[in-house]
Amino acid sequence: MIIHLIAAARPNFMKIAPLYHALKREDWAHPVIVHTGQHYDMNMSDSFFEDFSLPAPDIHLGVGSGTHAEQTGRVLMRYEGVLFEKRPDLVVVVGDVNSTMAATIAATKLGILVAHLEAGLRSFDRSMPEEINRLVTDALADILWTPSPDADENLIKEGIPQHRIQRVGNIMIDSLELMREKINAASMTNHLGLEPGKYGLVTLHRPSNVDDPEKLRSICDLLAKVGREIDLVFPVHPRTRKNLEKAGLAPVLEKASGVHCVEPMRYIPFMNLVFNGRFVITDSGGIQEETTYLGIPCMTLRPNTERPITIHQGTNRLCTLEDIEEKLRKALNGRAGEHRPPEFWDGRTAGRVVESIRSIDRTEIV
Ligand code: UD1
Repeated sequence: MIIHLIAAARPNFMKIAPLYHALKREDWAHPVIVHTGQHYDMNMSDSFFEDFSLPAPDIHLGVGSGTHAEQTGRVLMRYEGVLFEKRPDLVVVVGDVNSTMAATIAATKLGILVAHLEAGLRSFDRSMPEEINRLVTDALADILWTPSPDADENLIKEGIPQHRIQRVGNIMIDSLELMREKINAASMTNHLGLEPGKYGLVTLHRPSNVDDPEKLRSICDLLAKVGREIDLVFPVHPRTRKNLEKAGLAPVLEKASGVHCVEPMRYIPFMNLVFNGRFVITDSGGIQEETTYLGIPCMTLRPNTERPITIHQGTNRLCTLEDIEEKLRKALNGRAGEHRPPEFWDGRTAGRVVESIRSIDRTEIV
């Protein structure tokens, strides 16, 4: 069975890695990595292949940066060409980036089976490009592998037939468990001159936070203020870096005492900082999940989340610029409370996905 695994951007690489390795162990499966090239820097892409022991992609579409239509259009055209030639038996897309949606459209239009890993998540906020990608991908994909019961419910409400939906759990926890030993050994705090448990980690890259110069200035002011009380490590995403420079805000952070801006980090050192951090300030989806699994307070600078289970069952709190300091203080002063990772966030999701693929009966899906 020829199975294309579509990887495009930073959060995708760690999602396909456990699945690739699990499929590689099966004699009936031939996994093929397709890199669309949406992310292309060493730190945003290549390092993840090295760290997760993934081979170089079998197919590289080289789409690079661009507007949403440009990026989506290039993946559609280039991947369609690949599909004409290779005719895989199954295309697996992950997450919610532009390439996820584009690969799904290209494959379903050619009648090729598509499965979406991390299906059913909804922020109900259509101003987020990722929400549009999620809606289109889930409307078209044949098999929807979900991480949590809320995702199943969202799909049912959208009229997706139950037999297409399978709850398999959270693949990001597989990635974390796969790398746990190496993450523990990474001693990043020494390297940065920090004490374990005495710093916060910051990641911000969503257009809604970093594209508006005024909002970005307020965020810089907030970080400078928090940094006066506790060290902050901020690996700066390329989108954020570009916008900081455009708005002339880079010096505000450089001058802020206690704020350590660094390049985007590789998975292992980054997760070592998460493991040892006191808290996280973020707008990332994956980090809301990882902190929930690890029981670390997470301040999410967004009005909504497509991962509500991280709030109900986890350590995540939605914040605004106005209330984040108060919520942070409460989280740091409060008792950690009982911490219970959601069902199937157990490091065994890749195995469940492999079983699901093994049992595919094409006649039932259509
Ligand atoms: C994309 C995804 C988002 C995901 C994020 C993780 C979409 C719509 N968004 O957002 O869901 O959470 O990736 O990082 O698909 N750039 C580089 N080097 C790179 C990659 C990008 O310099 O390796 C620059 C690009 O030139 C671009 C900017 O970073 O200007 C943003 O990249 P883009 O892929 O458009 O979106 P992200 O913000 O990374």
